Amino acid sequence: MKNLGFGLGLRPDHYDAILSERPSIGFFEALTENYLGAGGKPLHYLDQVRAEYPLVLHGVSLSIGSTQPLNRDYLKAVKALKQRVQPNWISDHLCWTGTDGVNLHDLMPLPYTEESLNHLVPRIQEIQEFLGERILLENVSSYVSYRHSHMTEWHFLTELCARADCLLLLDINNVYVNSVNHHFDPIDFLRAIPRQRVAQIHLAGHERQESFIIDTHDAPVADPVWELYGSACERFGAVSTMIERDANILPLEALLVELDIARRMMEMQPVA
Ligand SMILES: [Fe+2]
Repeated sequence: MKNLGFGLGLRPDHYDAILSERPSIGFFEALTENYLGAGGKPLHYLDQVRAEYPLVLHGVSLSIGSTQPLNRDYLKAVKALKQRVQPNWISDHLCWTGTDGVNLHDLMPLPYTEESLNHLVPRIQEIQEFLGERILLENVSSYVSYRHSHMTEWHFLTELCARADCLLLLDINNVYVNSVNHHFDPIDFLRAIPRQRVAQIHLAGHERQESFIIDTHDAPVADPVWELYGSACERFGAVSTMIERDANILPLEALLVELDIARRMMEMQPVA
């Protein structure tokens, strides 16, 4: 996938500043669900942003891991949005968000089993065929694990990408959060992920509790996550990177300053 440089999540708070100031930024990531449907103000802004910047779509409703059938209406709406704004790519999360008609409004982790892989692979293939392109799936943060899991998260992701021929949106904050919550070395995670599968990187802030971490997206990127991002730059090279901020949203200039840290860290890597 093309390296789009350094981007930010597209948030309504910043629409006017983006369109009036035209900041120097590599791309915006729009939340798919905010722009589905035929018209309205959000789409009006999205079209204008798209006219000036590369754009990627990031969804939360695919529920790829659910045992419910794929939501055809949702997929049709995503495809229509794709045709309208021509994003560089489309991503969602490797999770399930509900079952039996109940929406948990949360990104729940999956058991890392052969059974999960067998469930996920044809669903991903079907979506990719329908959309006419490979999708990116993001590793999620989690607070529980399953007794059934018989492989590591990184082994599971690697197998999934190989079997479904999909790509990864590697969230470095989520790797770090899970390494603390589930007691593993995050470097082992990064080392196991094949370079060619990582098409985008997320960075975000979290909230540290005494013995675990909550993935909050409401604070600056934490030092250990920056450190891990340095290792990711070394391992994966120049990959489109963005900072997610979903609460306590700062003015655009402040986020651009934080994004510059990522830019400088990537630039410190020797050219391959
Ligand atoms: Fe993320």
